[in-house]
Parts: sequence; C-alpha cells; structure tokens
Amino acid sequence: MVTVNHQRVPRKRTYLMCSPEHFAVEYAINPWMDVTAPVDTELTVKQWDRLRETLVQLGHEVHLLTPERGLPDMVYAANGAFVVDGAVYGAQFKHEQRAAEAAAHRAFYESQGWRFIAPSETNEGEGDFAYVPEAHGGLILAGHGFRTELPAHAEAQEALGRPVVSLRLVDPRFYHLDVALAAIDDANIVYFPGAFSAASQKVLAQLFPDAVIADDADVMAFGLNLVSDGLNVVLNSEAAGLAEKLEAVGYHPVPVKLSELKKGGGSVKCCIAELRH
Ligand code: ARG
Repeated sequence: MVTVNHQRVPRKRTYLMCSPEHFAVEYAINPWMDVTAPVDTELTVKQWDRLRETLVQLGHEVHLLTPERGLPDMVYAANGAFVVDGAVYGAQFKHEQRAAEAAAHRAFYESQGWRFIAPSETNEGEGDFAYVPEAHGGLILAGHGFRTELPAHAEAQEALGRPVVSLRLVDPRFYHLDVALAAIDDANIVYFPGAFSAASQKVLAQLFPDAVIADDADVMAFGLNLVSDGLNVVLNSEAAGLAEKLEAVGYHPVPVKLSELKKGGGSVKCCIAELRH
C-alpha cells in the first residue's frame, strides 16, 4: 500500500461578509428559492454569525458590509465583486431585484482605497469567478450559462491581467460556478463534473488532473459552496460525504449549519467574498 503524506498549509485570508438581518425569500430567481417556504430570520442571523466566528477563530480577518433593507439577497456577499491582486472587478447583476447591491459593494471598495474597475458586462462576482493563484501561474476560472455572460469573462481578463478559462454551466440547479466548483488550496480544486458541459469537463480534467471529484450528494448538500484556507475547509454540515473525501486527502473539514440560507440557494461560499491583495 502506498501512503501519501499530504502537507496542507493554511494561509491567512481577508474576507467580506454581510449580515442577513434583512434576509427573506421574496422572489425566486433560482430553483432553490420557494417564496412560500417560511424563513426564520433569527436563526439565519445566528447561523451566519457562527460562520463569521468560525472564520475569525481560524485566524482570518472578516470585514463587514452594511446590509440594506429591500435587498434580501445581500447576505450573499460573494456576488458583489471579484478581487485579484488588489484589483476589484465590479459586479453587474443579471436580475433587477439584486442590481442595487453592486453599488453598495463598490462604495465599500472605494472607501477602502481598492482599485475598482467598473463592469459593462453582466457578471455576478465570485459567484461565477474563482481564482487559483498557483495553478498555471495564476488562473481565473469563470462560469457562464445562467448568470454571468461570456463577454464578462474577456472583460475580467482585461481588468485583472490573469488568464480566464470559461466554463459552461448546464444545470439550472447549479446556476453559479461557486455551487459546483471551489479552490481547495492555491493550486487545486474540487468540482462536480455534471454541472458542466462535456467540453468544459474535458478542460477541467486537463488543467486539474489531481482535482477532488464531488458526487451528486455532495453538490445537492451545497458542499461545493465552500471556503478553504489551504488546510481548513469550511463547508455546509449536510455535506458529510464531501467532508470525508477532503479529509482523506489531508484537508481539515470544518462543518457549519446554514439551513436557512440554503432556502435562498446559497451556503458558505456565497456569504463570503475574498479580498486578495
Ligand atoms: N438568491 C441568490 C441568487 O439567486 C443566491 C446567491 C447565491 N450566491 C452565490 N454566490 N452562489 O442570486
């Protein structure tokens, strides 16, 4: 038997989150949202707070965006921009219900002195963009098919100066890249192949031969909507199978309960934007 000794090294991160005080399911813009299902706001805030505390306890820095009344999806802070090498590519939401969130994110980044690049193409920030700094010299993976439009991938490449690999999402349940794929360290990813077109699956297999492959149960439990610091992988507690797979290759799974936010069609990653200097 061959034993592989995986040396996983965590790296300190800076994140942005937004409290779900005004969270509700008032409209349905993805298949997970059911406007008739009740949401427990108090429990939502409690679970979100636990997630924030978990990140702080792991040694990460968490900035907060002020939530706004009338923007119930603002808790999904990952969608407001995409930040690489200190440059911020702004979001332009597909649905008008979320459009105003972009300005709140922009104001945050500008007040903090980040270099902000305004978009002219539809894109939902880190919902559809992932960065893998040590893969092929620094690679951006980008989803399209449901929210972010293909021209935004080229715009992001020009804005950020890193190669962007376009991946086509084909299953409406996995409408954002970040529910089907995640970076688990600086060079590797985990993904659910069934969320992607056959050609995009081939591209992923070529670029990431050592990727962790997720299954149906993992993706349906929102397990791929995770945040990793290179060692600690914070993920939805319902994704026990994925936690086991990650543990088997040397990662340390940190499960969190986010039952309420699943009703909006999101989990851990959706709530967290990474600010990369
Ligand atoms: N209700 C939100 C929407 O449909 C959920 C966004 C989830 N965010 C994410 N990064 N996948 O837009």
